[in-house]
Amino acid sequence: MGPDPLTPYGNRPMVTPIVNAVNYEYLSFEVLRQITDGEIDGYTYHRDDNPTVREVERKIAELEGAEDCVVSTTGMAACTMVYLTYLKVGDHLIIFHDTYGANYKVSLILERMGVEITWLDADESDRLGEHIRPNTRMIFLETPSNPLCKIIDLAAVRKAADVAGALVVVDNTFATPYHQNPLTLGADLVVHSATKALGGHNDLMAGAIAGSKEHYNELWFTRQAIGTTLDAYSAFLLDRGLKTFELRAEAMARSAQAIAEFLADQPKISRLCYPGLTNHPGHAVAARQMRRGFGGMMAFDVGEDEEDVKRFVAALKTIYHAVSLGSTESLICIPYLTTMLYLPAERRTIFGVRKNTVRLSVGIEPADKLIKDIKQALACVAQGVATADAAR
Ligand SMILES: Cc1ncc(COP(=O)(O)O)c(C=O)c1O
Repeated sequence: MGPDPLTPYGNRPMVTPIVNAVNYEYLSFEVLRQITDGEIDGYTYHRDDNPTVREVERKIAELEGAEDCVVSTTGMAACTMVYLTYLKVGDHLIIFHDTYGANYKVSLILERMGVEITWLDADESDRLGEHIRPNTRMIFLETPSNPLCKIIDLAAVRKAADVAGALVVVDNTFATPYHQNPLTLGADLVVHSATKALGGHNDLMAGAIAGSKEHYNELWFTRQAIGTTLDAYSAFLLDRGLKTFELRAEAMARSAQAIAEFLADQPKISRLCYPGLTNHPGHAVAARQMRRGFGGMMAFDVGEDEEDVKRFVAALKTIYHAVSLGSTESLICIPYLTTMLYLPAERRTIFGVRKNTVRLSVGIEPADKLIKDIKQALACVAQGVATADAAR
C-alpha cells in the first residue's frame, strides 16, 4: 500500500496537507475492494471524498459530539442536502421564519417538488404540537434564531417531533458548538454555515452536517451524487480556522455580553435581543441549552426609523458594515436591507424584524474598543448627524 496522503513522509505534518488531486491511482485491486467495502478511508475521486476535507469533518464531528460529519461547499448546500436527503413528495416540513433567509428560496423549490411546508414563528414554538401532522417528516430551526436571537426549547421540539417520528434539524451557526451541542439536547442533525465562526476569517465558504454514522452515510450519498464536496484549499483554511475556534468563540461571547449590558442602558436603543440578558424572554431556556456564555450574536433596534439606523451604521468606525457573521472582525448589517432582501416585503417583517433592526456579530476586538465605537455612533444618532460613509 502507498503512503497515506496526509502522512506522505512517514511523520505527520503539523499542518494538514492540501491534497488537490481529483483522482487517485489504485495501487492494487485489494485496496480498491477495501475502499469500495468501506473498510478503509481510501480515496478515488474528489467528489466522493478528499483527505483534507475528511480531516475537517472529523474535527467538526468531535466539536458537535457527533459520530461523523459531512462537509459541503456552503452552508446553504448543507441545508439543501438535508432537505433533499430526507424529504420526498407528500412529506411535511415545519420550518421557522427565524432561520437564514435563503431557506425561504429553497422552500419554493421544495414546494415545486411536492413537499408541504408550514412556517412558524419561534415565538409560537410552544404550540408546535398543534402543527404536527402524520406526514411531518422534519422540523428545521435555529436557536438562537437569525437575526432576533429568539430561543427555542429543544427538548419540547423533540417531544413534539416524536409524535410523528420527525427528524429535528438544528442550524447551530449562531450558537456555535462551543456554546451549544444540539445533538445532546434532542436534535437528530446539526447544520452549520462553516463560512461563519468555524472558519472565522471571512476567507472561505463551507457547510457542515453532523450526526450519526447512519446519517453520515445517507448524506454522503447525496453529496457524492450532486457534487457539493468542498475543495481542498477551503478545507485547509477551515482546518486552520478550527485551531483557534474555541478561543475566538470565548472572546466573542464575553464581549457580546459586555456590549449587550452597555446597550441595555442606552436611550437610543429601543429593543435589544441578546439571550445572555436576564430579561430576555428565552434566557432561562438558553441558560439550560447553552454553556460558557451565549454567543457573539445580537440584534437591536436603533432610534425610531430607517434614517436613525443608517446614521448609526454609517458612523461606526471599528465595526464593519457587512453581512456574514462569526468572524474575527465585528460585523453589522440591517437585515431588512441585506440578509432578508430577497424575501417578499411582507416576509421580511413577519416575525419581528423592523426597518431599524441591526444584527451585530461581535468579533475578537477588545470589548472596550467596540463599546467606544458604538457609543460615538449612538451620539451621532442623538445629534441627528447626516448619514455619510464612515472613514475607517
Ligand atoms: C444561520 C445561517 N445558516 C446558514 C447560512 C448559509 O450559509 P452560507 O452563506 O455558507 O451558504 C447562513 C448565512 O449567512 C446563516 O447565517
